[in-house]
Amino acid sequence: MAGYELVIKGGKVATAADTFMADIGIRGGKIAALGDDLAGDRVIDARGKLVLPGGIDSHVHVAQRSGMGVDTADDFASGSTSAACGGTTTIISFAAQQRGQSLRQVVKDYHAKAEGQALIDYAFHLIISDPTEQVMGQELPGLIRDGYTSFKIYTTYDALKLTDRQVLDVLSLARREGAMVMVHAENHDIIAWLSDKLVQAGRMGPPSHGIAHAAIAEREATGRVISMGELLDVPLLIVHVSGCEAIEEIRKAKARGLKIYGETCPQYLFLSAEDLEKEGFDGAMCMCSPPPREAANQESVWTGLTTGVFDVFSSDHAPYRFEGPGGKVAGMKAGGFKKVPNGVPGIEIRVPMLFSEGVLKGRIDLNQFVALTSTNHAKLYGLHPRKGTIAVGADADIAIWDPAIERTITHSMLHDAMDYTPYEGRKVTGWPMTVLSRGEVVVDQGEPVAKIGRGQFLSCDKPDAARPRGHLPFTPEIAKSILF
Ligand code: URP
Ligand code: ZN
Ligand code: ZN
Repeated sequence: MAGYELVIKGGKVATAADTFMADIGIRGGKIAALGDDLAGDRVIDARGKLVLPGGIDSHVHVAQRSGMGVDTADDFASGSTSAACGGTTTIISFAAQQRGQSLRQVVKDYHAKAEGQALIDYAFHLIISDPTEQVMGQELPGLIRDGYTSFKIYTTYDALKLTDRQVLDVLSLARREGAMVMVHAENHDIIAWLSDKLVQAGRMGPPSHGIAHAAIAEREATGRVISMGELLDVPLLIVHVSGCEAIEEIRKAKARGLKIYGETCPQYLFLSAEDLEKEGFDGAMCMCSPPPREAANQESVWTGLTTGVFDVFSSDHAPYRFEGPGGKVAGMKAGGFKKVPNGVPGIEIRVPMLFSEGVLKGRIDLNQFVALTSTNHAKLYGLHPRKGTIAVGADADIAIWDPAIERTITHSMLHDAMDYTPYEGRKVTGWPMTVLSRGEVVVDQGEPVAKIGRGQFLSCDKPDAARPRGHLPFTPEIAKSILF
């Protein structure tokens, strides 16, 4: 059978490993061939274009209620549409447990929110805020076996934080069951103490958020959870890393051979502490945790990306509106920086901004770019090789880039449900103008063209990346009595 349902012809293809000229033959939603002169029922002319694996954004908050009780502006429909228009073909969002909730019920309810709503494929991480006997003994092991193979834990936020003892419990369970642990690492008491002092001094504005969430607080918690991971020989991933101090902790851990992974996000490359100082309440638009650091720190984040300290570049899209009930302005009016919902949007600009500033400015090469925005996400979360690459047998999730097109980012051009973008007015070169999900064109000329609801839920394998190294600081007998 030589013919293909669709052929992408004449483009420059790049994966995390190679760059080459090839036609791509697609059949049944999968990549069926890479070759020369392929013929198909339909053809997309990709001459002069880059043909890349669709992005995977493995840190996305949609249809989620925050620890402060605020709902995200984006649901699965708007969030996944915005993702696709920025070249992303898979999102992984969070089924978030609030204390007292059954994790099974949380996952069931979250499925109901996603069902029939997504434009592109999606998977779930879990958020564990209440590791009760029921959760640890039955629900979590069962869910991991059912394809929810990663979960996020927090060392801060009153509503979410785990004690160190609970972190150790969760890590040892992850080790036994083969799940990937993601950690939001900031020292809770440092933040709370500094916040109280700043409030007492009447410093209620957004800059106080940046001061309270000190880089030293991030470094301390990052080092602490890495030590706990080392103690129990459990791989873990530190999410949304911002400061050069925490970056250094991850670099050192990797240099010691530990399976510690790092994630950073656009806000740490393209925003800075100065943005928190904007007029009136505008600084609140850039409030997220950890916060953007001083401008000089951006260079350390770039170095982390170029030297492999960071494995993944995610958006941490946390879409809390500026105006309206539950918005950032309302938070500022209600009680200053401590009442502002934390998070910034970035699902649609994540990949184009890294392309423009990273690839076109020569900081990273195309293969690193693909690894950071797609392939490594699939590998870390058990979706590879179905997702995250261009290879025979993989889903035909493909972004066709015009590498020369110039666009100015404005909120009005984005497809999320937000009322602002912190990147208003930034100029970028290159955009994924055509995007395919399982062989179907979902974005054409930069606009969504497919039906909401076609996106499918992805069950995740246990990732190899989550396998222990087999180096425990205990004798085998002691290890057996502690860990199994
Ligand atoms: O400020 C942030 N990052 N909000 C989203 C929630 C989280 O901790 O990732
Ligand atoms: Zn977080
Ligand atoms: Zn997040």
